[in-house]
Amino acid sequence: MKAVILAGGTGTRLKPLTFWTNKHLLPVGAYPMICYGVTRLREAGIREIVIVTGRDAIGGFSDVLGSGRDWGVSIVYRVQEEAGGIAQALELARPVIGPGEKIAVLLGDNLFEKPLTPYIQAFERQREGAMVLLYPVDDPRRYGVPRFGEDGSRIVRIEEKPEHPPSNFSVTGLYFYHPDVFDIIERVKPSERGEMEITDVNNAYAAVQRLEHLTVSGWWTDAGTFESLEEAGRRLKGTLP
Ligand code: G1P
Repeated sequence: MKAVILAGGTGTRLKPLTFWTNKHLLPVGAYPMICYGVTRLREAGIREIVIVTGRDAIGGFSDVLGSGRDWGVSIVYRVQEEAGGIAQALELARPVIGPGEKIAVLLGDNLFEKPLTPYIQAFERQREGAMVLLYPVDDPRRYGVPRFGEDGSRIVRIEEKPEHPPSNFSVTGLYFYHPDVFDIIERVKPSERGEMEITDVNNAYAAVQRLEHLTVSGWWTDAGTFESLEEAGRRLKGTLP
């Protein structure tokens, strides 16, 4: 399995810090944020990583990670020329993913306290479709939120930042796909804000009962706000896996 880390975006909620650097290069404890995702993936056995980011930021990622050699992985960089959504960023990885190869997609600001190994192993065993990871939260309105079917076992739909959340879970930014995801992305239409949303991709799988899920064990955050960035620094304290 290869991994794609999506590390673009404008970091609006972290301005003015993100006036001068990409969000994923900001410090979390002793390391730039991107290092946590890379090392968690490596710990789980992933050796090939594609990083997608904007053209202004690419030099910073190369300064920190280079070819990946010193981090025990091989890194390929792809440039997203302008903000077009998470699904469009993922599409840029397509030429680097081998035919039939499964992929783990990580939003670079998603930080996990515990190893990703159990989820990656679960998806190695999954024969088709996609898998998302859920985390219980107090304010689901900030996130993608799963709506479960009547027996509560399957996600029937994900609602993006809903005013009336259908459950108390967030869909975290670690997604797993079979390679048919690229065909699905081709069919996704831009949302009202003009972006190709990852939630629409996941809902295409949910609509045909091919979206599995697991719940994250241990602490999780997306460090996209000052509060969550500070909390991540306190909790992770600069210790890499
Ligand atoms: C994105 C996804 C959202 C998900 C979140 C997790 O939102 O659209 O579904 O819950 O990542 O980090 P964003 O943080 O880009 O607003």
